[in-house]
Amino acid sequence: MRFPTLSLLLLAHQAQAFQGQHPIHEPSISSTSTSPLLKLHKGLVEHESITGNEHNVAKYLISYLKDQNFTVESQDVGPWKGSTNPRENVFAYIGKQRKTRVLVSSHIDTVPPFWPYERRGDEIWGRGTVDAKGSVASQIIAVEELLAAGTLEEGDVALLFVVGEEVGGDGMKKANDLGLSWETAIFGEPTELKLASGHKGTMGLEIVAKGKAGHSGYPELGKSANAMLVPALNLLLNVELPYSEKYGNTTLNIGTMEGGVAANVIAENAGAKIAIRLADGTPAVIEKIILDTLLKADEELDVFFSSGYGPVYIDSDVPGFDTIVVNYGTDIPNLEGDHKKYLYGPGTIMMAHSDHEHLEVKDLENAVKGYKALIEHALK
Ligand SMILES: *[C@@H]1O[C@H](CO)[C@@H](O)[C@H](O)[C@H]1NC(C)=O
Ligand SMILES: *[C@@H]1O[C@H](CO)[C@@H](O)[C@H](O)[C@H]1NC(C)=O
Repeated sequence: MRFPTLSLLLLAHQAQAFQGQHPIHEPSISSTSTSPLLKLHKGLVEHESITGNEHNVAKYLISYLKDQNFTVESQDVGPWKGSTNPRENVFAYIGKQRKTRVLVSSHIDTVPPFWPYERRGDEIWGRGTVDAKGSVASQIIAVEELLAAGTLEEGDVALLFVVGEEVGGDGMKKANDLGLSWETAIFGEPTELKLASGHKGTMGLEIVAKGKAGHSGYPELGKSANAMLVPALNLLLNVELPYSEKYGNTTLNIGTMEGGVAANVIAENAGAKIAIRLADGTPAVIEKIILDTLLKADEELDVFFSSGYGPVYIDSDVPGFDTIVVNYGTDIPNLEGDHKKYLYGPGTIMMAHSDHEHLEVKDLENAVKGYKALIEHALK
């Protein structure tokens, strides 16, 4: 059995998973949105920004923040693989002081497919309305309102909106090159307006089986890659992975399987892609369990692990907020430094990435209040 350990970006494949999905279209109740919050949220959602294609929404955001008199820097992140479109993080602050005590941050990319902004009564539907343009809009308005109230001054708060969060986090990793550090970083993702006290870790795994093609009537002449892969996957379905009181079970999702070319041909190639959500331990611990388990399949399989991380602790010590534990990954582990971390935002992850992504207007409005409270707490 060979075990070359490579870093593959398995998450890139997850992003494709919704390509075939079609949003539900129902007649919309038209309603004009006039508040600065709703206007900004609408502007963000209307600019399609599936990972790799964030340039237009970044331009929109830069222009918006400049109009609000923020000092704005764009940080080149470089084109997505196979594309030439420029991509940039947007970094903004008050006046000349780019080093601030608090960072307020979220991401401007979305998962596919794009579907447009739609107001339905008190609800706002569309790709990115929740994940994470609801956070982006309410974070900006929170800072604007604190500024207008005279609560903030130069050196207090910076805003950072990154590309690439949905697929590997290249935007946030690049943000480490800004050469800055903060006392507190407030991250925006859908947490149902609660403070997340932690999130599960994540890692990816790909298994490849290489057999020998032949006529299905003469199995002795070939070796079926499918027959090699299936027992290995069955072992993984039954493997015991670390559990923790806080996060529950480590879960393993066999997201894709493929193998063979026709029913009457012995499959030469087969493979599966798997995502693991870690409730405890480290990627190294999980790797060992997986490899020990696959040894029992007694087949020569290639196993590739993507780089990942264990469960992430998040601060949740702000009075007045409910707390929640979430099972999704964020950019939090991608930002270096020993800052205090908060994770908060409008909408629920159950809607994000779905074909019915939406939130309520009052969630956005409450998120502005929540971010203001978090920023003020961090500046105490
Ligand atoms: C930005 O600054 C200009 C010039 O000082 C001022 O006229 C304008 O009202 C400011 N805009 C905002 C949104 O604060
Ligand atoms: C966690 O795993 C155990 C053992 O496999 C299982 O019995 C239990 O139902 C799982 N819990 C949840 C919430 O899925």
